[in-house]
Amino acid sequence: MMGAGNVGQGVWALLESTRAEILHRHSLDIRVKKILVRDASKKREKDIPPDLLTQNADEILKDKDISLVVECMGGEQPATTLMVRALESGKIVVTANKMAVALNWHLLDAAARRGNAGLHFEASVCGAIPIIRTLNDSLQVNRIDLVMGIVNGTTNYILSKMSDEMRPFDEVLLEAQALGLAEPDPASDVEGFDAAYKLSVLASLAFHARIPYKHIFREGISRVQVTDIAAGKDLGYRLKLLAVGKRQGNTMDARVHPAFVPEKHPLASVQGAYNAVFLHGDACGDMMLYGRGAGATPTAGAILSDVIYALKHHEPLYPSFQNTAELHADLSVTDNWQCGYYIRFSAANRPGVLGHIATKLGEHGVSISTLFQRKAESEHGVPIIVITHKANEKDVHAAISAVDTNIAQVESSIRVEGI
Ligand code: NAP
Ligand code: HSE
Repeated sequence: MMGAGNVGQGVWALLESTRAEILHRHSLDIRVKKILVRDASKKREKDIPPDLLTQNADEILKDKDISLVVECMGGEQPATTLMVRALESGKIVVTANKMAVALNWHLLDAAARRGNAGLHFEASVCGAIPIIRTLNDSLQVNRIDLVMGIVNGTTNYILSKMSDEMRPFDEVLLEAQALGLAEPDPASDVEGFDAAYKLSVLASLAFHARIPYKHIFREGISRVQVTDIAAGKDLGYRLKLLAVGKRQGNTMDARVHPAFVPEKHPLASVQGAYNAVFLHGDACGDMMLYGRGAGATPTAGAILSDVIYALKHHEPLYPSFQNTAELHADLSVTDNWQCGYYIRFSAANRPGVLGHIATKLGEHGVSISTLFQRKAESEHGVPIIVITHKANEKDVHAAISAVDTNIAQVESSIRVEGI
C-alpha cells in the first residue's frame, strides 16, 4: 500500500475484517507487506504493525514478491511517478486518486501496457458507487449522451446543510472537514477541482474519448448565498454542485458548477455526503446510480473490490479509446452550452423595470420561464428573480451585460439543469 491516511487506514481495517471471507469465497489470501507513508512515527487510528510502515518507496517497488499496489496517498506527485514505476514493473495498481488519473491517465495507461499490468480506479470516482465498472461493463453497448452527477460528497453535504438549516457557507464547511470526507486541500472540494477530475474520468469512459481535464469548465460553491438557495427552494428547485457531460455528435460540453435542479428530478433528493450519477444512453434510457461517495469505509470497499477483480481477471483491461493527453482531433468541447438560468436582480423601485429586463433578455434570444418579484426589503432595491428556459450560455451573458445597471443590478446568476 502507498498511504495510510483516512482511506489507507480504511482499506487496512476492511481487509483485516474480511480477509477470511475473501479467502473462503475467492481463494485469495491477500496480505499487506509494506505501507508507504510520509512519517512512519506518526500515531495512526488503526492498529497497523509498525514494521509494515516505510518511508522508502523502493521497499515496495523493488520487492518482486509484491504483485499489487494500492495507492491512496493522493496528489499528482509523487503518486503518478510511483504508480508508473509500479505498473512498468508489472505490478497491478489500484488507486483512489482521481487527480492523478485525470491529469496523467495517458502516462499511467502507457506504463500499464508496457508492464502488461492492470490499472484500476473504481474508488477514484464516487466512492462506493460502482460507476466505473458499470460504464466499462454493463453499459458498454450504449451510446451515452449525458452524464450528470453529484460527485463530491463534501460540497453536497455543505449545500444540503445550507438548504436545510439556512446556515452560511463558512460555518458548514468546518463541519464537513471534520467528517473525514474533505480532500487534504479543502479548495479541491469547494472550488470544484475534485469534481472536475472525476468528470474528466467519467465523461471519457461514457463518451469513449479522452476528455482532458483542461477542457472542463469549473466553478465552485464558495460564492453561493443562502438567499439564493432559499429563493430557489421556494420556486421548486434544489441547489447542487453538478458535474455535467453532454455529447451531441462530435461536440461535447463538460462542466462543473452549482446548478438548480427541479425538485422532481432524481438528483434533487440526493442529500448530505451522498453522491449520484444520472445518465442517459440509447439502449438503457435514463438511469441513476446512488450511494456513498466519500469516507474511509465506502472508499475502501471500492478499493478491495478492484483488488479482488484484478486478481481474478488475469487479462488487464485497457480503455477502449486512444488515451492521449489531448482531445481527439475530430472532437470539440464547446463553452457555449445550453441550460436554464436563475438570475436575481436588485432593481430600482419604479415603472418599466420588468419591461427593461424582459426586453434585454428577449433581444438576446433568452426566453423567460418564471418571473418573480419579491416585496422590497429596503428602499435600495426590489428583488426580482428570473428563471429562463434553456438558452445559449453566451446569449445569457450578453443579455445580462445589456441590462442597464441604473435600472437593475445582477446580484447572482446560477445555471439550471435537468429541465
Ligand atoms: P490523507 O488522509 O491525507 O492520507 C494520505 C496518506 O498518504 C498519508 O498516510 C500520508 O502519510 C501518505 N502520503 C502522502 N504523501 C506522501 C508522500 N509524498 N510520501 C509518502 N507518503 C505520503 O488522504 P485521504 O483522505 O486518505 O485520501 C487519499 C486518496 O484517496 C486521495 O487521492 C483522495 O482523493 C482519495 N479519496 C479520498 C476519499 C475520502 O473520502 N477521503 C474518497 C475517495 C478517494 P502520513 O500519514 O505519514 O502523512
Ligand atoms: N473529497 C471527496 C468528496 C472525497 O468529498 O467527495 C471522495 O472522492
